[in-house]
Amino acid sequence: MTTRRKLVVGNWKMHGSRVANAELLAGVLAARPFACDVAVCTPFVYLADAAATLAASDVRWGAQDVSAHAQGAYTGEVSAAMLQELGCRYTLVGHSERRAYHAESDALVAAKAQAALGRGVTPIVCVGETLAEREAGQTAEVVKRQLSVVIHQLAHCAAEMVVAYEPVWAIGTGRTATPAQAQEVHALLRAQLQAATGRGDAMRILYGGSVKPDNAAELFAQADIDGGLIGGASLKAADFIAIVRAAG
Ligand code: PGA
Repeated sequence: MTTRRKLVVGNWKMHGSRVANAELLAGVLAARPFACDVAVCTPFVYLADAAATLAASDVRWGAQDVSAHAQGAYTGEVSAAMLQELGCRYTLVGHSERRAYHAESDALVAAKAQAALGRGVTPIVCVGETLAEREAGQTAEVVKRQLSVVIHQLAHCAAEMVVAYEPVWAIGTGRTATPAQAQEVHALLRAQLQAATGRGDAMRILYGGSVKPDNAAELFAQADIDGGLIGGASLKAADFIAIVRAAG
């Protein structure tokens, strides 16, 4: 039997305002206690507010990206040390929107994951295939390639990361992977993690892509799905709370 504790992470993307965030987080805090781990990944500029609001609770906060560089002349970038200073428990790396709109390569994603871990910030490494790749039967090959570069870079620390499987065709589209489709990929990823680290059974693999209150329970009931990375539905306290409750 595994003892993996479920984790539900809100990915706010580029949404929010100080007023709206305060209301959202107040709603989330009022719904505690939760039976699983909960975190929100906010835009950088709201991390200090999130830290102040959440510090006394068991709800964690994190970023949506991190620089691969430690410090220096990298205008616009935010380092892992800065995230650590703001108390971030997590940072997303390699979200498909970063890969697609900012041309992030597997190697860059791996370097970012390593930079985060080096500062004690847990990287949530996102992998996932496009619709064209799925239709061409390349899903397994694509996600395994994306993950293997990170595993190789992190070496003996690879078991410290969290993985998120997010099929690109399911993100923000309302088209969720079926529980069976998601489970199939999660099982592949876990086998890969187990072979590489020997600790795959203890690692958390989240599903992301149009998770909603009405489909969360079925997804989270799958053997290798350890929670979710929630975009749109994390912006409404009631929906986010319902998804967190579905995780146990
Ligand atoms: P979605 O986004 O829940 O809005 O599909 C998920 C994500 O991009 O992390």
